[in-house]
Amino acid sequence: MQLGRLNHVGVATPSISASIAFWRDVMGAQVIREPFDLPEQGVRVCFVDTPNSQIELLEPLGEASPIAAFLAKNPAGGQHHLCFEVPDIAAARAAFEAEGKRILGPTRIGAHGTPIFFLHPKDMGGVLTEIMETPKDAHG
Ligand code: CO
Repeated sequence: MQLGRLNHVGVATPSISASIAFWRDVMGAQVIREPFDLPEQGVRVCFVDTPNSQIELLEPLGEASPIAAFLAKNPAGGQHHLCFEVPDIAAARAAFEAEGKRILGPTRIGAHGTPIFFLHPKDMGGVLTEIMETPKDAHG
């Protein structure tokens, strides 16, 4: 396993539009990307740029959304996951499997259009962890 950059912090919210106003008006975010739907993951997504990372706002898309379950327990929303980059997604997956870490589902294409997978929080110090292959054109 080769730990790369913190790509983003996932934050669940009942309202992306309300969260956009918060990040713009209270937190002073200068770059807020256009929201988009990821129906296969049951989420609507909006990235807020910070100088060294991003916040990934996640709103449920449908009642079967994993974010709907999160909001049932945390109605105001809250921190949902951390996402770290790796240079080689297959090597990272194999390394976590060798450590006996539970991987949630197959490797799939995530919100940045690159392969991702999630690790069970109970095997990760209580943190739902997303592993993402570094985009080829990333970081200038
Ligand atoms: Co994410």
